[in-house]
Amino acid sequence: MLTWSDHFSVKIESVDIQHKKLFELLNLLPENVTEGVCRQAPIDAILTELMAYAGQHFVDEELLMQHHHLDPRHINVHRMEHKSFIYDIQNMQEHLYSEEEVGDIAEKLVSFITSWLIYHILGIDRIMAAQIFAIHHGATPEQAYEARHAVNYDAATTHLMLDSVLDLWHLSMDRCHKLEAKLAAVTAAKHPK
Ligand SMILES: [Fe+2]
Repeated sequence: MLTWSDHFSVKIESVDIQHKKLFELLNLLPENVTEGVCRQAPIDAILTELMAYAGQHFVDEELLMQHHHLDPRHINVHRMEHKSFIYDIQNMQEHLYSEEEVGDIAEKLVSFITSWLIYHILGIDRIMAAQIFAIHHGATPEQAYEARHAVNYDAATTHLMLDSVLDLWHLSMDRCHKLEAKLAAVTAAKHPK
């Protein structure tokens, strides 16, 4: 369960409203994934709505960055983060019902979306907002970009970010180990001893 708090506010109302909606949609998933049991129809419906909403939200954020003439270096990296999220979710969704441990994968999907949203909002979205604020107060896009790491993080926000990075790292390691096991099985089948 991902609970909204002021820590997540980027101080741009339109963006905060959309982030809150993403939290709401995400929070519908866990009740359909419990103790290894995964209710396919509601999960598919929620994921479809979540991904459609996330896709529109990403477009809106990218338009916002262009509207405020943010430095293209930031826009490019930000856009790549959005694209990689869509790619990763589609990839996980494809394997959601095709593996033995369906509940396990669904739980990891929920965990991935939760940690990704925390990391993305507290990370690059706050950096985006800081640049918009700086440009609004007279900085050039380049000056705003160069000062982007001056964003202040309190202890609680830093803690949230570190936890989310750690969780994303664990999930990624888990995927690597599974791929390694699959590769070993395919190799063993091709070259029996
Ligand atoms: Fe974003």
